[in-house]
Amino acid sequence: MNPLYDAKIAGTGKYVPKKIVNNLDLEKKLDTSDEWIRTRTGMWERRYKSEDEASSDLAYEAALRALEAANLKAKDLDMVVVGTISPDHSFPSTACILSKKLGIKDIPAFDLSAGCSGFIYATSVALQFISTGNYKNVLVVGVEILTTLINWQDRGTAVLFGDGAGAAILTRTERNDVSKILDSDLSSDGTFGELLIQEAGGSRCPASIESVKNNKHTLYMEGNKIFKLAVRSMQASCEKILKRNNLDIKKIDWLIPHQANFRIIETLGKKLHIDSGKVIVTIDKYANTSSSTIPIALDEAIKSKKIRKGDLVLLVAFGAGLTSGSILLRF
Ligand code: ACO
Repeated sequence: MNPLYDAKIAGTGKYVPKKIVNNLDLEKKLDTSDEWIRTRTGMWERRYKSEDEASSDLAYEAALRALEAANLKAKDLDMVVVGTISPDHSFPSTACILSKKLGIKDIPAFDLSAGCSGFIYATSVALQFISTGNYKNVLVVGVEILTTLINWQDRGTAVLFGDGAGAAILTRTERNDVSKILDSDLSSDGTFGELLIQEAGGSRCPASIESVKNNKHTLYMEGNKIFKLAVRSMQASCEKILKRNNLDIKKIDWLIPHQANFRIIETLGKKLHIDSGKVIVTIDKYANTSSSTIPIALDEAIKSKKIRKGDLVLLVAFGAGLTSGSILLRF
């Protein structure tokens, strides 16, 4: 179906907590080494929240910056969608808490759970509402406080995660505007759900003394299996969206993949045959911040003027679910 309206990213913003934790800091806490973390993951440091920060606090700061970049006020927003697997609470949604902080109400606000693909999923949902003409300005946020989900008994996952938020304002475009979101692709495969899971805290395994004792409220991941699935699913999504839009990878100016492991990013780049200079990498500074890696990287690439008006940009992610997806846009 042809959209009635096109949408573009009118502004982006990011916020990361001030506390920097580098690999040497982790050496003091875990049986690990700076060398192992750098060579196996490409991570050098990550940000950890302060004691009183929650996801909505990070989301709020990122949202303010995105609104400013888009030259809009919070009251101009028609909808708020937050991609997160580390909300302030199971309910109410972080999107509702964020809306309250922004001083807005009487518009839809909801969270979306798609793991590290949260921002791609949320952007795609926002796009549908704009393309039908229902809404004009939608705030999309990817935010995570993954440090609250770390299992400190598991060195294989404990070193991988950080906290952060990225936001984008999607706005209806004029027909003659070169900037627009061209396409989105979403997918999932629940058969691999148990490879990456927070087992307790939901209806399957409610909180109990046992669940806390056995670390069931933390993140469990089978890293090796996820690694292969990550490459496969992101490659498939990129190839699908490029084919559907009759585009060769050479036409892409910038690829922004989910930042889970530098080796995953590198392998994906090779499989897609994209010049490595066109791949945006922020994993060295922020590690894996799940649904916020892509909007943070997008914001940095825009603000540093790497991404310029008219550039063709491909965003791609995979995450818990398993989910995957991509967004193709002309900035
Ligand atoms: N420090 C030192 N040694 C370690 C550490 C560590 N932090 N972690 C594991 N090791 C050891 C292991 O014990 C193992 O030792 P052994 O050979 O003596 O048994 C060795 O290093 C190799 O372990 P592997 O697990 O095979 O290491 P691998 O190269 O696969 O890297 C990693 C592990 C980084 C987790 C990788 O598999 C990966 O990145 N997977 C994908 C992660 C991902 O994509 N996550 C995204 C989703 S997260 C989300 O959605 C919230």
